[in-house]
Amino acid sequence: MNADVPSKATQAPLPRHVAIIMDGNGRWADRRRLPRFAGHKAGVETVKGVVRVCGEKGIEALTLFAFSSENWRRPEEEVGLLMGLFMTALEQQVRKLHEHNIRLRVIGDRSAFSSMLQERIEAAESLTHANTGLNLVVAANYGGRWDMTQAARTIAARVHSGELDPAQVTPELVNSLLSLSDLPEPDLFIRTGGEKRVSNFLLWQLAYTELYFTDTLWPDFDRIAFEGALASFATRQRRFGRTGEQIATAQSV
Ligand code: IPE
Ligand code: IPE
Ligand code: MG
Repeated sequence: MNADVPSKATQAPLPRHVAIIMDGNGRWADRRRLPRFAGHKAGVETVKGVVRVCGEKGIEALTLFAFSSENWRRPEEEVGLLMGLFMTALEQQVRKLHEHNIRLRVIGDRSAFSSMLQERIEAAESLTHANTGLNLVVAANYGGRWDMTQAARTIAARVHSGELDPAQVTPELVNSLLSLSDLPEPDLFIRTGGEKRVSNFLLWQLAYTELYFTDTLWPDFDRIAFEGALASFATRQRRFGRTGEQIATAQSV
């Protein structure tokens, strides 16, 4: 065995799934007296860097909050520019993602998007569908409440048709009807930009996720900042309701 390579047991635990609220683009631009859009553009560069780090480290899934169901409340001009940026980023990056064996998927209510954007999303998803590397999930027009509501609607319809008995409604069934049900639950949540809230991101899925908040604005969130979040994660003891002693005993055997 190569002595330089730490054995599995001594390696810092890595999250399998990282979920990020990419916040602070507008303030990054304000500070430079640039239009907010310049911050969003710079934010796309940060996405590329974070995806690269995830690929290198072998992280299985990365979910990025790109546009919330509440972001439609922004000025029409900003919403339009964000949609355009999403389109361009898809167009320019999909080939590269595919070459890197990355599987891309978009979660959220895409019916509100232009048909052209919807087509482009579908094309990107089907192109990368069979890839086995990083699962890259972009949450666009996504809201945790929307996610849970559409699961509730499916359950109600099945009960109504007699296909399902209310007693069969379990947490596992609810989970299976939500976005991301086929991926490991997020282990690490990161929010950049200083706010300490969830802003209707993954509500159900974050039940036992480790939370990490940083004042760093998204365009400034570089490799070192990301590694800082991963290092913080590595120090957490995840107990899932058990005692610390139980966890320590289980780890020592
Ligand atoms: C996050 O940055 C990007 C989106 C919500 C699309 P913001 O645009 O929210 O940046 P701040 O919070 O105004 O700085
Ligand atoms: C959350 O950021 C949504 C995204 C990053 C896409 P916001 O900037 O919209 O969140 P609030 O409004 O400050 O809670
Ligand atoms: Mg914000």
